[in-house]
Amino acid sequence: MSKNILSLNNVNAGYGKFQILFDISMEANDKEITVIVGPNGSGKSTLLKTIFGFTSIYSGKVIFRGVDITSKKPHEIAKLGIAYLPQLENTFLNLTVRENILLATYINEGETMNIEDALSLFPQLKRMLERRASTLSGGERQMLAMTMALLRKPSLMILDEPTANMAPKIAKLIFEKIVELRDSYNIAVILVEQNAKKALEIGDKAYLLVAGKKIFEGHPQDLLKKPDLTRVYLGIS
Ligand SMILES: Nc1ncnc2c1ncn2[C@@H]1O[C@H](COP(=O)(O)OP(=O)(O)OP(=O)(O)O)[C@@H](O)[C@H]1O
Ligand SMILES: [Mg+2]
Repeated sequence: MSKNILSLNNVNAGYGKFQILFDISMEANDKEITVIVGPNGSGKSTLLKTIFGFTSIYSGKVIFRGVDITSKKPHEIAKLGIAYLPQLENTFLNLTVRENILLATYINEGETMNIEDALSLFPQLKRMLERRASTLSGGERQMLAMTMALLRKPSLMILDEPTANMAPKIAKLIFEKIVELRDSYNIAVILVEQNAKKALEIGDKAYLLVAGKKIFEGHPQDLLKKPDLTRVYLGIS
């Protein structure tokens, strides 16, 4: 039996008075990859921001490892062990890879993973330590962002489209590393992906959001068996 790590209970949320999420309930388990898919603008990023304390929650609750985090601030939520990687701008472009990594260890007030161990996820970064993040490819920059997140020893990592705009070969590597986060680092992952088919293939649990509402919840393979949903909403035929 997998252990629940995060739950959303009937959450209504949005930006100021613009409600985007409607009555969302979901569960993510320890040592699992929970995949959130849906069309553009369906509220996937908003859902991740809601977990991390960046939106207005009008009603409902967000519970992380038994702690009510509904009205906590992002820095407090980070301290509790959630690492959030936004869709864009997740590294300091003017700093070198080494400086980005050092900064990730300074920002963290808790115990951090040692840098060598964190670099074992993407050893190729060791050859790029003196390069500015602005000179990295999109894939390399995502690797750096994931390494920086790993340094904080999170128990839950929230990834917003980690393979966006990447060549298939790099996207494949990132997906393999997400599996490694689960299997070798024992980190629960919530993954939002545009690359829905591939994400559903590695996922343990799936949610389909459409216009801010949950319209499927279950095993990813069961979602893949529903062409009426996957064709219309995910472009998988
Ligand atoms: N800061 C904001 N203020 C007001 N509305 C916003 C804000 N950010 C996003 N929205 C709106 O919320 C809705 C959901 O956006 P969101 O970014 O969560 O969708 P998404 O599913 O992540 O889409 P995509 O696949 O394009 O990344 C959209 O209508 C968007 O315009
Ligand atoms: Mg998004």
